[in-house]
Amino acid sequence: MVGAEETRAGQDRVRSLLAQMTLREKAGQMTQVTIHTVCDPAMGPQDAARLDPERLRRAVVDFGVGSILNVAGRPLNPAEWRALVTEIQEMATGETRLGIPIVYGLDAVHGSGYTRGGTLFPHNLNLAASWREDLVREAARITAEELAECGVPWNFAPVLDVGRQPLWSRFFETFGEDVHLAKRLGVAAVEGHLAVDGIAACGKHFLGYSAPATGRDRTTAWIPENRLRDVFLPPFRAAIEAGVQTLMVNSGDINGVPVHASRELLTDLLRGELGFEGVVVSDWEDVIKLHTIHRVAETPREAVRLAVMAGVDMSMTPYDLDFVDQICELVESGDLPESRIDEAALRVLALKESLGLFERPLPSASPGPKRERIALSLEAAAAGLVLLENRENTLPLTEDSAAGRDPSSLRLAVVGPGCDSPTVLSGSWSQTWQGDDATAFPDDAATIARVASEYFDTTPQAEEADAILLCLAERPSVEKPGDIDSLTLDGEQQSLGRALTGLGKPVIAVLLFDRPRILGDWIDACAAVIWAGRPGPEGARAIVETLLGHRGPSGRLPFTYPRHPGELVSYSHRWTDRLGRNYGLEKDYRFDGLNPRWPFCAGRSYAEGMVVALEVEVAGQRVTGSVTVRNPGANAIRMVVPIFVRDHYASVAPPVERLGAFVSTELEPGEERRVDFEVDPESMGFHDDDGFRIEPGAFSARVFDKVQEFTLLPL
Ligand code: BGC
Repeated sequence: MVGAEETRAGQDRVRSLLAQMTLREKAGQMTQVTIHTVCDPAMGPQDAARLDPERLRRAVVDFGVGSILNVAGRPLNPAEWRALVTEIQEMATGETRLGIPIVYGLDAVHGSGYTRGGTLFPHNLNLAASWREDLVREAARITAEELAECGVPWNFAPVLDVGRQPLWSRFFETFGEDVHLAKRLGVAAVEGHLAVDGIAACGKHFLGYSAPATGRDRTTAWIPENRLRDVFLPPFRAAIEAGVQTLMVNSGDINGVPVHASRELLTDLLRGELGFEGVVVSDWEDVIKLHTIHRVAETPREAVRLAVMAGVDMSMTPYDLDFVDQICELVESGDLPESRIDEAALRVLALKESLGLFERPLPSASPGPKRERIALSLEAAAAGLVLLENRENTLPLTEDSAAGRDPSSLRLAVVGPGCDSPTVLSGSWSQTWQGDDATAFPDDAATIARVASEYFDTTPQAEEADAILLCLAERPSVEKPGDIDSLTLDGEQQSLGRALTGLGKPVIAVLLFDRPRILGDWIDACAAVIWAGRPGPEGARAIVETLLGHRGPSGRLPFTYPRHPGELVSYSHRWTDRLGRNYGLEKDYRFDGLNPRWPFCAGRSYAEGMVVALEVEVAGQRVTGSVTVRNPGANAIRMVVPIFVRDHYASVAPPVERLGAFVSTELEPGEERRVDFEVDPESMGFHDDDGFRIEPGAFSARVFDKVQEFTLLPL
């Protein structure tokens, strides 16, 4: 921890540094380029990054760039990363007039994806399915340590976008569709980063990136202000309160205003209202895209002016250095006040100061034993699996199960495009950006077929098997390359599913998708269904150990899994959404007017815990309570208990229900335990033109089938 005195001394240092800087040097600090621009152009995609001293000198010394990002060529091991960053820092500190170090940034969005031998964890959607803040925090901490070991101080994570558009190619990067869950897990991720000295997190992508109307990446979202504040803003506000040091901007537009040009969002809201003091970095090439794509700026220079005046402190240009000259010209012509440049440059310098880069230009850390990191990845992978169906207790596949066989003599057909592939487990941001290059993984990387063969008598021949493990998979992709025209799973996999379920043998379907791909009704003929998302490299083991019952599933879906392509409705919809064709409102909490394949929070276990009691207490507008849970079984279990809140009437049509709290607890055999919770005030109120408020009146809290009414009195 940095003491108050050190902080003051740091502030003095960066202020005095700023006072010595030329306009061009300040503009340089606001510029971020990709490592490709400073590498040897002869480098091949499989080579380790090789810096070209002349190109590096041009960027770092002549243009004085403040930051470099990304990986070029193959992933590097920690020693190679350190050597690379050291070479850059030696030039930055040794050959520039003021010796200011650069700040290096990487996308380690689910572990160290760009580090050879780095630990990969499940993607955020899987972590969300575990409902475990402890796992999220610890995975982030380990990631931060591994980055520090590489000498890289800045991680472009966590994603804080709320996943409300299942078509979107980055759905799996979110913590799901719920505001409260995303908020709590986002904060846990920030805390994990902050636990490591010299590391900055970057909350992204501020704001409203995850709800493109068409589902296509980086396109228009239509989000009225009340929805922006009710749904998309809370995780960012919470992360800022938790101390996130930097934010990255949404590449798309909201209501036609590209966020990179929105002073309303990037300055009035973010600085004025939320009090964010850190660095705002653009996303990839997004400043110039205000001219080339969005067309709100007639010239590149106007694009720069708009973005900087909106509140962008650093431009991820990322290929050219024109930004530096453009800033200088704009200030010299009087079109951009130098005070704004001072402000942005000061924020970048303050970030570097807070990371300790002036003392030691590379952070350091010694992550704990590798086997412990892998064990955490495995635990997180298992905790994030969701058992959606388990007809006639098909699982686990033990002697006592419906399969009725000792696993080693059970002939298990392991089939489907996901059965023998390491890429479908880890998804994007794994070794490569798209994560679809199997050759980038070690030859002995675990796949489901491989791990299954350790325990079962496996075969790919479904006709000869006792049971079939059908591994359905979406090829990993992300951002624009991940745009899809239909949420429906491709015909080939659906035909396979239909054919296999027609064989009359138990079919266990495993879903390895980036988003909820729509399945035909043949899925109802599967004996069991496991949502596995992108569980990471330990996912294969987690799945097989779950099949065997060595681990009991406890995950719950952090999103609504649609049945129909036209029914993409969040669980937190309004009453109108559940009206059936007969106009009849349902009177209870069931989804009768809507018909998702699996609702938000769906998830079974091998041994179910019980909710014995639900109590709610009201003090003013503070609502607390407790759930008493019991494990009636003979094995320890984990219970994830969501607490939903309903505001019965409000002046703005209230959602049918919202997640107000959740608890996750382990229970020994026979144990009964009371767990306290506090209802998130944001789940009880709403924003309108007058700001946020909770209206007094009748509410209820629900835990599974237990409901408690409560009343909020006027304050
Ligand atoms: C993505 C960001 C990422 C950045 C840097 C962009 O294309 O949208 O999430 O951090 O690239 O790699």
